[in-house]
Amino acid sequence: MSQPATKVSLTGIKPTGEPHLGNLIGAIRPALDLAEQYQSIYFIADYHALTTEREPELLRHYSRAVAATWLAVGLDPDRTIFYRQSDVPEIFELTWIMACVTGKGLMNRAHAYKAARDRNVEAGEEPDTGVNMGLFNYPILMAVDILAMESDVVPVGKDQVQHVEYAADIAGSFNYLYGDRYSFTIPEAIIPDTEGAHTLPGLDGRKMSKSYGNTIPLFLPEAQLKKLVRKIPTDSTPVEAPKDPDSSSVFAILSQFAPDDTVAETRKRLEEGGLGWGELKNQLFEVLNERLAPLRERYETLMEPGSELDDVLADGARRARERAGRVLRQVRTAVGIEPER
Ligand code: TRP
Repeated sequence: MSQPATKVSLTGIKPTGEPHLGNLIGAIRPALDLAEQYQSIYFIADYHALTTEREPELLRHYSRAVAATWLAVGLDPDRTIFYRQSDVPEIFELTWIMACVTGKGLMNRAHAYKAARDRNVEAGEEPDTGVNMGLFNYPILMAVDILAMESDVVPVGKDQVQHVEYAADIAGSFNYLYGDRYSFTIPEAIIPDTEGAHTLPGLDGRKMSKSYGNTIPLFLPEAQLKKLVRKIPTDSTPVEAPKDPDSSSVFAILSQFAPDDTVAETRKRLEEGGLGWGELKNQLFEVLNERLAPLRERYETLMEPGSELDDVLADGARRARERAGRVLRQVRTAVGIEPER
């Protein structure tokens, strides 16, 4: 790595949907900016996605699409370790070991699991209806993702902070029992840039999110991109009337993608009146398309079977396995599976 003395930052990306504009602004960009300060490790959490994704073709597609997206928008595989979780078997062996030092009570209290139970009880069902053991064990696998790579910090959204605290907790249990033989690094969550400026409105004005079904996918063909931009809701203020830029979704998206002077100029024209929503949407489409076209091309090349993507992931897996293998060997010895060396 280029900065051996710096702290290690790791984050996992669950491939459960088509990457969209909101992901780029809210997650990918901030994560890539962080890569400047840390030794960065990114991975595709495909076995986490398996807890909910039952379509093999979709799981395959999303895993590849998400990996290709991160590379297309600028992840530098020479400066970061970038791999697929499923390519690192050491993680799964370590998951068993860590499950053996994790209290079941801790898992019972995990937000995602508790929410599933609450929903069931509310609906008059058995509390564990539809809950698979993958969902229940999810926090342990995530803890191991973090611990196997000896991560110092984990940049995540607010909803994932508890998981990182669990990782610290589970590491603590292990260290308490075996700390004289091997000690895990205790990780810490960091929440990159939570300013409102970095949440993008979607096609219905609510936060752009896969769970609302209101996203604009990043790499749509031009014609479809144009069609979706047209769908962003606006009010019926006539062309000539002054408009409030700050209550417009179209303007909010434009602000994230257009150069500052264009944004300022557009703001002025809206406030003065004379700029209609139709024209503003055309402008947004042009701005988006200009920014995305070169990335789209790179993405499409990466998505081809046997592309450079496969080489990048193979190399990432090799480096990740080396790192996790070093940890696993020490842990196996510490717990008494391997003879003392
Ligand atoms: N649970 C995370 C999410 O849903 C994805 C994830 C899996 C992750 N393993 C991780 C994030 C390790 C950070 C570190 O977004």
